[in-house]
Amino acid sequence: MGPIVSGARPVLWLSLLHGFFFLVADSGTESPEGTTTDMSSRQFRAEFLHEWQGSPDAPYFDPGTPKNITGLVGHPVRLLCRVKNLKNRTVSWVRHRDIHLLTVGRYTYTSDQRFEAQHKPRSEEWALRIRSPQRRDSGQYECQISTTPPIGHAVFLNIVEPETIISSGPELFIQAGSTINLTCTVRHTPEPPTSITWTHGDQIINFDSARGGISLVTEKGLKSTSRLLVQRARGQDAGVYTCGPNNAPSSSTRVHVLSGEHPAAMQQGSARSTLDKTASILCCLSMLYVLSKPTFNALEFGT
Ligand SMILES: *[C@@H]1O[C@H](CO)[C@@H](O)[C@H](O)[C@H]1NC(C)=O
Ligand SMILES: *[C@@H]1O[C@H](CO)[C@@H](O)[C@H](O)[C@H]1NC(C)=O
Ligand SMILES: *[C@@H]1O[C@H](CO)[C@@H](O)[C@H](O)[C@H]1NC(C)=O
Repeated sequence: MGPIVSGARPVLWLSLLHGFFFLVADSGTESPEGTTTDMSSRQFRAEFLHEWQGSPDAPYFDPGTPKNITGLVGHPVRLLCRVKNLKNRTVSWVRHRDIHLLTVGRYTYTSDQRFEAQHKPRSEEWALRIRSPQRRDSGQYECQISTTPPIGHAVFLNIVEPETIISSGPELFIQAGSTINLTCTVRHTPEPPTSITWTHGDQIINFDSARGGISLVTEKGLKSTSRLLVQRARGQDAGVYTCGPNNAPSSSTRVHVLSGEHPAAMQQGSARSTLDKTASILCCLSMLYVLSKPTFNALEFGT
């Protein structure tokens, strides 16, 4: 039996080590919301403080309390704090930016009418509600328990606003005859846009236009995209293209169609350099082929 017992120990150590590495590896793929590692370190901290305060009644934050909240400009947002074992202590919310005490218990302490303390009697939840948040409200907030010394739970608030981006940036240079490919992305809207309209100059783009060769693919969701493809671009297709979602600002890009007769102008565009690269790769490949040909011949003759 002896050897079996002593053999079991390294196995136990290995599995402990494995567990440790798993934790370390796991921490790299954290999601922004509450996570395993965060929770265990929080729990550790809570338990540590628990002991350190020398009382089994010491309060602590529920490890599931969110640490990172994203809200939309103008839409009410709630920062939540869940406290266990509170007893007769008080929970406060403090804004880090200016160390402003916003709420104490069920009372709101700031003159800013947008802030409000929220608590249901006998619940463990102590919330800070912001009625109409603005970008400048983004930042660190802290929920504090009135122990001596006080203990705190930090929450990061991120206030975003609807945003529209065309991936090609403000200008796009393309060769005549190639495809104009524009992708418009709409983010941070309260709900997916009901429509995303493309215009060229002041003309709304639709499929039944005399132009033909136009396609539009729209995907709606948390992040919506609309891709406009205009095949066989020509001079008349140049100009400003605008992507206009119904519930977010619009975004524009200027498309330049290069006729291929003015190399100097074409140098500005990325289309030209891609063409150049393709050309030189083709050139080198054929050079290699030509150079290697005699070697192969020689080998064939040699055998
Ligand atoms: C909070 O989450 C947002 C996205 O949801 C992320 O961009 C940001 O970096 C996160 N902030 C912190 C402090 O984790
Ligand atoms: C809370 O209650 C304890 C006794 O249980 C007392 O010693 C302490 O002073 C009280 N604290 C507050 C803030 O009322
Ligand atoms: C358009 O561009 C996107 C990336 O910007 C690419 O994934 C897609 O395949 C392109 N479509 C065409 C038809 O060129």
